[in-house]
Amino acid sequence: MEKINLKIIKSQAQKEIGEAKELKDLDKIFIKYLGKKGKLTHIFHSLKDLNDKKRAELGKEANRVRRFIEKEIKGKAPSSMKVSGPKGKKEWFDITVPGKKLLLGHLHPLTLVKRQIEEIFQTIGFSIVDGPEVENEWYNFDALNIPKDHPARDMWDTLWIKEPQDQKSKRNKFLASEIKNQKLLRTHTSPVQIRYMEKNNPPFRIIVTGRVFRHEATDASHEVQFYQVEGLMVDKDVSAANFKAVIQDFFSKFFAKPVKIRLRPSFFPFTEPSFELDINCLNCGGKGCSACSQTGWVEIMGAGMVHPNVLKAGGINPKKWSGFAFGMGIDRLAMMKYKINDVRLFYNGDLRFLEQF
Ligand code: DAH
Repeated sequence: MEKINLKIIKSQAQKEIGEAKELKDLDKIFIKYLGKKGKLTHIFHSLKDLNDKKRAELGKEANRVRRFIEKEIKGKAPSSMKVSGPKGKKEWFDITVPGKKLLLGHLHPLTLVKRQIEEIFQTIGFSIVDGPEVENEWYNFDALNIPKDHPARDMWDTLWIKEPQDQKSKRNKFLASEIKNQKLLRTHTSPVQIRYMEKNNPPFRIIVTGRVFRHEATDASHEVQFYQVEGLMVDKDVSAANFKAVIQDFFSKFFAKPVKIRLRPSFFPFTEPSFELDINCLNCGGKGCSACSQTGWVEIMGAGMVHPNVLKAGGINPKKWSGFAFGMGIDRLAMMKYKINDVRLFYNGDLRFLEQF
């Protein structure tokens, strides 16, 4: 009986496969005969009720039919089979066409440079520290030895955060010490120096990388937002010589070639003495070109020995401890490294630019 059934199944399946026009039809045939509740599967299930001899005989036959159906389906399925697309549209499906390449994302050039800076400083014992982008006046200015109404505040065009009127009138009732907490977008990463000193005892070496904001018109070398890296080392008897050694090492590693540096006297309220640091122009090797205004040097960072008032604001005794600090623009470093001539390229999301990294 089952034997006859098998024959019928085989010829029925063969006929249906022969008539199938689409992959979908083959799917249905597969399910009809070989699926969980398929006709052939049913015969396999019934084998257990037979005696040994019959089971062996019929099992063999059933397996032969199964292989036959599978082969027929496979033989019918290849490239010439029609596939019903979405909305029932007919399209050709060629399984030999290579798959679509997945587009892999990658890091933004500023992130690459930021991470590289962090790695280099970590190898020379600096830890990486973070701080808020929305700061208050105290950390951004006062604690850094830049009191209210001091002309030095003009060095930073600040984006102040306007408070709702009711909060403002409430605040005006507070003591003067509360007023210094007017909110702003940090103009530099220097406030994190104070935040770190408040919570940690020397000796320490830290760098801070992060976004800063300036109320400035944009052009090829200015943006309202950019990135800075700040450094602070506080220990016993730290001198400018320590700073020079650290920073020389950093630049040579960052640009992967020996870099010359020079210090020029300058002014920052939070350091005394203060210097401006130049590196030899990597474009012309120091001979003089348009990138360095024919001087052979490029100004790259501000630095100095931490002002005693700043140490005090951070709760550190300036008689016992000394330190150096520095700050520079990550965007500028990235521009030098990759020879980019417009800072705005980092922020406008143009894939023609970004995909080069
Ligand atoms: N905060 C300064 C700026 O944004 C840069 C700077 C100069 C940072 C000297 C320092 C420093 O820590 O010592 O212009």
